[in-house]
Amino acid sequence: MTFSLAARPCSTYYNIFSQCKLGEMPATAGNEGLREFTEGKIRLLLYDPDKYRRPDGVYEPAWSPVFYNPAATFSRDFSVLAVSLLDPRDAVVLDALAGTGVRALRYCAEVDGVARCIANDIDRRAYELIVKNVALNGLEGRVTALNDDANVVMYSLKRSGEKLDVIDVDPYGSPAPYLRAASWTVKNGGCLGITATDIASLSGARPWAGSRRYWCQLTPTDVPKIIALRVLVGYAARVAAELDRFVEPLTYSMGAHFVRVFYAVRRGATAADAMLSKSLGYMKYCGACGFREFTLSIEERSCGVCGGRLDYVGPLWIGRLVSREFAGKAVERLPSFSYMSSADKLSRLFECQLAEAESEVSVPYDVVQMSSRLRLSAPKVGRVIDCLKSLGYRATRIFGVATAVGTDAPYEDFVRCVKRSAGA
Ligand SMILES: C[S@@+](CC[C@H](N)C(=O)[O-])C[C@H]1O[C@@H](n2cnc3c(N)ncnc32)[C@H](O)[C@@H]1O
Ligand SMILES: [Zn+2]
Repeated sequence: MTFSLAARPCSTYYNIFSQCKLGEMPATAGNEGLREFTEGKIRLLLYDPDKYRRPDGVYEPAWSPVFYNPAATFSRDFSVLAVSLLDPRDAVVLDALAGTGVRALRYCAEVDGVARCIANDIDRRAYELIVKNVALNGLEGRVTALNDDANVVMYSLKRSGEKLDVIDVDPYGSPAPYLRAASWTVKNGGCLGITATDIASLSGARPWAGSRRYWCQLTPTDVPKIIALRVLVGYAARVAAELDRFVEPLTYSMGAHFVRVFYAVRRGATAADAMLSKSLGYMKYCGACGFREFTLSIEERSCGVCGGRLDYVGPLWIGRLVSREFAGKAVERLPSFSYMSSADKLSRLFECQLAEAESEVSVPYDVVQMSSRLRLSAPKVGRVIDCLKSLGYRATRIFGVATAVGTDAPYEDFVRCVKRSAGA
């Protein structure tokens, strides 16, 4: 296969968010059927999205020969920012399931201190597209394309002595098959950026799938996405611990169909033991009255509030999900990322996380769900937070779930604040 790369294969290039009608692309040998777009600071050749639309006209990323989801730009903007907050120096990043190569290209083009990226995809057409996109951006010297299984690539890089500062794992569905190799391969003190889109498994909506993939006992709750995130981090922590490593969560993001977490991985068996005994536990949950509490161990089986059945959801991560230093740096540095299409959203995300980082414990509640249990009309989330603070507790919004609150208040006081804020 030869790649004929014109310096400018399209007459116009499109921003996928502009919703403009796509024009014709001149046929350039090797680039037939491709269109050029921009994302962040890079140019990107994609299979023409017009050819992969459902009958209702909506573009379906999974139908394209190489997966690219424009809705995931927020996740990629977030990731570029997160990698830059690591203050990398001569860093090497592996984009292990790269699709078009967009993440690797963006890390190299947009993060000072990233020296090289490796963009790998098992699919031949994805690999070929990565090669074209690398050339289109003039990044041949800095981005290497590979075409293999992500686990093979990670173990091979480890064996060859490559020091990877960051590994990005962005699979379809569950990241579980890649976490062991990623935790093993990333350098001591390096960072993993992990996406999961199997929210139904992680949150307990499909309890058997959750237990099979993540070795957890799950049950549906009224805060599914936050449980999904904590189950994912808890699983990542246990995988790291098996390898005498421990994790430190730095930041996370959540969208309609995904959760993504960045965490540092360090060596140390004693610290791994301490992590497991302090940060890995369960959320006690009563489906009847909505009582919940984080706990380190399984104890009583009936709800102390209403006598209903008490479930133990987990093991999951009950510690902090956010580094204060990280969120503080993000808020400070956001102005230099104002070119990103998600800049406003990222600013709200890190404001929330800066507040969340102050709190040792952040038990998730949903104001609307609790109000409906209490047969009240839902009060404003901000009023409930103010009420909790007035009682001396820490309470914050959880970015990604508009009606959620994270707090160290016990159930009774959360209920009191929902009632008081609803005027009951
Ligand atoms: C969700 S897409 C990646 C999207 C991309 N990271 C982005 O932001 O646009 C997942 C990719 O993983 C690739 N893939 C699936 N299994 C793989 C494996 N075992 N090793 C490497 N790549 C794999 C698929 O071909 C697909 O391109
Ligand atoms: Zn109860």
